Amino acid sequence: METILRISILINFICFGLVNGQIYNVLEFGAEGDGQTDDSNAFLQAWNATCGGEENINTLFIPSGKTYLLQPIEFKGPCKSTSIKLQLDGIIVAPSNITSWSNPKSQTWISFSAVPGLMIDGSGTINGRGSSFWELSLKASERPRALHICNCNNLTINGITSIDSPKSHISIKNCNYVAISKINILAPENSPNTDGIDISYSTNVNIFDSTIQTGDDCIAINTGSSSINITEVNCGPGHGISVGSLGADGENAAVSDVYVTQCTFNKTTNGARIKTWQGGQGYARNISFENITLINVKNPIIIDQQYTDKVLLDATKDSAVAISSVKYVGFQGTTLNEDAIMLKCSAITYCKDMVIDDIEVTMENGEKPKVECENVEGESSDNDLMRECFNSNSTFSGGVRNYFYRGQRM
Ligand SMILES: *[C@@H]1O[C@H](CO)[C@@H](O)[C@H](O)[C@H]1NC(C)=O
Ligand SMILES: *[C@@H]1O[C@H](CO)[C@@H](O)[C@H](O)[C@H]1NC(C)=O
Ligand SMILES: *[C@@H]1O[C@H](CO)[C@@H](O)[C@H](O)[C@H]1NC(C)=O
Ligand SMILES: *[C@@H]1O[C@H](CO)[C@@H](O)[C@H](O)[C@H]1NC(C)=O
Ligand SMILES: *[C@@H]1O[C@H](CO)[C@@H](O)[C@H](O)[C@H]1NC(C)=O
Ligand SMILES: *[C@@H]1O[C@H](CO)[C@@H](O)[C@H](O)[C@H]1NC(C)=O
Ligand SMILES: *[C@@H]1O[C@H](CO)[C@@H](O)[C@H](O)[C@H]1NC(C)=O
Ligand SMILES: *[C@@H]1O[C@H](CO)[C@@H](O)[C@H](O)[C@H]1NC(C)=O
Repeated sequence: METILRISILINFICFGLVNGQIYNVLEFGAEGDGQTDDSNAFLQAWNATCGGEENINTLFIPSGKTYLLQPIEFKGPCKSTSIKLQLDGIIVAPSNITSWSNPKSQTWISFSAVPGLMIDGSGTINGRGSSFWELSLKASERPRALHICNCNNLTINGITSIDSPKSHISIKNCNYVAISKINILAPENSPNTDGIDISYSTNVNIFDSTIQTGDDCIAINTGSSSINITEVNCGPGHGISVGSLGADGENAAVSDVYVTQCTFNKTTNGARIKTWQGGQGYARNISFENITLINVKNPIIIDQQYTDKVLLDATKDSAVAISSVKYVGFQGTTLNEDAIMLKCSAITYCKDMVIDDIEVTMENGEKPKVECENVEGESSDNDLMRECFNSNSTFSGGVRNYFYRGQRM
């Protein structure tokens, strides 16, 4: 009993110690929260105070029970306080139609740049009301992302919901130490380019315990990213978790150390995907997908190492982003496509050191699916499934090699 008391006193002390900053409520800066009035200016005033405050942790508070209309807006750091909390409990909406956006050509609706220790937390929602952009069939480059966070350290996003972004919902660029948890992302299955979370030039990113139902990639991991850990994310509908696309226009791409585990793909077009452009350079390596549940997924495991938007491959483009050390271990569930595993690698740089094991995937009719491979070198204990896959020119001539997993033969 005494111990419990001591612990709770300690916890109170810690909590109190952490929430030591000022709270800046947008309503006190003139926000109406009626869903009609443009609250952008009030939010900027509140931001100025929050960011300029001298306390360790200041909070920008967006109360529940109200709907705040914001035009494209940028919250800029650096700030005086070491850390900023955005307590989002209300609903933030974009203008209802592209015709009422102050700048319909903006690349981002809500952006945060160079804000150290940003914590976005709460039960609130941001609604990009993207349908007027989608119905005009605008190019992706002509539509804004909903939330873009760049140049940040120690970012956390927890609890919030993002719906109907005109383009990608959450984009993280040039950030180190990121934790995203318990978020919901929602957009129609046919909404264009509405990626759930886009990551680029970022390291030490943890995404867990979240649900992403959208029209494009659930999570896309782009160049400059490493140490990416994705756990217990439910995807679908959507296009699955994708490394890339990498290497467009000859780009020198780099993605490494990606670990995706205990995720579910529910009616997604792809599951675990790596996509690199023909003519690209650089690498995608040390990428693991483990313990993945599939529900009627079209392409559960797919690599396209020589992606092109042309009809034919261009023989003059003689480079490819190198793909190596990719593991697919423990896939269970159902696929719609007969070719459940499709590894289309380039003859220029093989897919090397691939491990494919413990794949228990069936088609709707209960039959075992097929595997389609080009230029793949790797190993598997599943002789039946993988016999045809691995390149006979590989170091393991004959293709399939017995594979030992944590000391246990699988
Ligand atoms: C921003 O906040 C500072 C104090 O932190 C204040 O002096 C300044 O007037 C504010 N500017 C605006 C535009 O509100
Ligand atoms: C947006 O406004 C245009 C022009 O008024 C209208 O044609 C269109 O249907 C609106 N779109 C939505 C989604 O409300
Ligand atoms: C990030 O957070 C850790 C621990 O919470 C702290 O030690 C580190 O200084 C922070 N880094 C930055 C750049 O704020
Ligand atoms: C990955 O994320 C999970 C869930 O947050 C966590 O338990 C695990 O320790 C993380 N792994 C690494 C290497 O950060
Ligand atoms: C591969 O990535 C994991 C994180 O997913 C990391 O812990 C490990 O050290 C990396 N291995 C190599 C050889 O870099
Ligand atoms: C898969 O998605 C459907 C809706 O499309 C939903 O009813 C079902 O509960 C989901 N299954 C799982 C296991 O999440
Ligand atoms: C795989 O998932 C199951 C169920 O979620 C869990 O019990 C098990 O520990 C996971 N194994 C690994 C290696 O993550
Ligand atoms: C076989 O592998 C060797 C060494 O990796 C390589 O030099 C050669 O071009 C490959 N041959 C074919 C036909 O792919």
